[in-house]
Amino acid sequence: MYAEKVLSGMRPTGRMHLGHYHGALVNWVRLQENYPCLFFVADWHALTTSYDDTGTIADSTREMVIDWLAAGVDPAKSTIFVQSKVPEHAELTLLLGMVTPLAWLERVPTYKDQIEKLSHKDLGTYGFLGYPLMQAADILIYRADKVPVGEDQVPHIEMTREIARRFNHLFGREPGFEDKARESVKKMGGKLGKRFDELRKRFTEKGDTDALAEGQALLHEAGSLSNLDRERLFGYLEGSGKLILVEPGALLTEASRMPGLDGQKMSKSYGNTIALRDDPETITKKIRTMQTDPQRARRTDPGDPEKCPVWQFHQIYSTGEVKDWVQQGCRSAGIGCLECKQPVIEAVLKEQAPIRERALRFQEDPALVDHIIDEGSAKARALAQDTMRDVRASMGLV
Ligand code: TRP
Ligand code: SF4
Repeated sequence: MYAEKVLSGMRPTGRMHLGHYHGALVNWVRLQENYPCLFFVADWHALTTSYDDTGTIADSTREMVIDWLAAGVDPAKSTIFVQSKVPEHAELTLLLGMVTPLAWLERVPTYKDQIEKLSHKDLGTYGFLGYPLMQAADILIYRADKVPVGEDQVPHIEMTREIARRFNHLFGREPGFEDKARESVKKMGGKLGKRFDELRKRFTEKGDTDALAEGQALLHEAGSLSNLDRERLFGYLEGSGKLILVEPGALLTEASRMPGLDGQKMSKSYGNTIALRDDPETITKKIRTMQTDPQRARRTDPGDPEKCPVWQFHQIYSTGEVKDWVQQGCRSAGIGCLECKQPVIEAVLKEQAPIRERALRFQEDPALVDHIIDEGSAKARALAQDTMRDVRASMGLV
């Protein structure tokens, strides 16, 4: 059975917080059990908006990777790397740029949004306009099948698919297409492969469109095929034969419901975070001083959990029983807010303890972290070079 390949990246923002943990890392750690995964630090992406402040990129990269490792991303299962250590990303970005219509980049929703939102910066740069294209290259260079991203990134994945399609259309035929297609047929297994060959013959020799439809259905169902094999065989079935880049699918990560200490989205820019490696005293203090329902000015005032950020934490961390206790106790003024916060404090500390523990080894040994990054980057680079060989050849660059 072919395992689909998963790829995702994050800009180097430095220390991760609980929002990153529940929003992405928990999902990554789960995915690596079922798929070969590639996770990378998108350091060049940081330059597209922060080109005037590059002093923190190196440190942020290392701190972020330590947090990934601490959260349980396992270098024995996942390839962890840094984008700039695989310079082929830049080469593919350049080559894709030759065939990417400007309008596709201009209509990416984040483009105008971000320019408005970050109006204190001059984002009228070539690099900023081109960053979704760089992201497309990040994905296509590994022929990734699945890309876990948040909702805001879905249009980028959609554009990546369009670029792959356009590239395949323009530069068509893969070197050695026929041989590769025969290999892909073999992967279907004897019986299905034979049926596929019959259907292909009926369509290409007699123009039987029922055979085409049946052949396509067969490919959709063939669980033993990678997306690359499958798309190649779609071409082979029709007698056209082309495939260099693979269209990826977005794997929508459920939006993190992780609220910040003030009930807004948890974000460094709001100053409302609990960092993944905050020490127990800091975590305890942050939660103990969290805002609660403003109506509960006094201990004897009843409150409403719906108006309280602590309740949002309970929804993530507490059992049904505890949640009933909160609802009851808050509305009847039966419990105090500090009492109410205690189970949250305990749950967060319990969740964070093994993370902090795993981080120690890496904090104490930066060379170990560098080693993991170097090894992962070398592995990733070998994959990227494979794709680039096909890309160059198909474009007539040898
Ligand atoms: N653009 C993504 C973000 O800002 C990060 C990113 C860069 C990415 N390249 C990627 C994510 C490739 C998934 C796949 O969050
Ligand atoms: Fe919030 Fe709990 Fe206090 Fe109610 S009792 S206001 S839910 S902290």
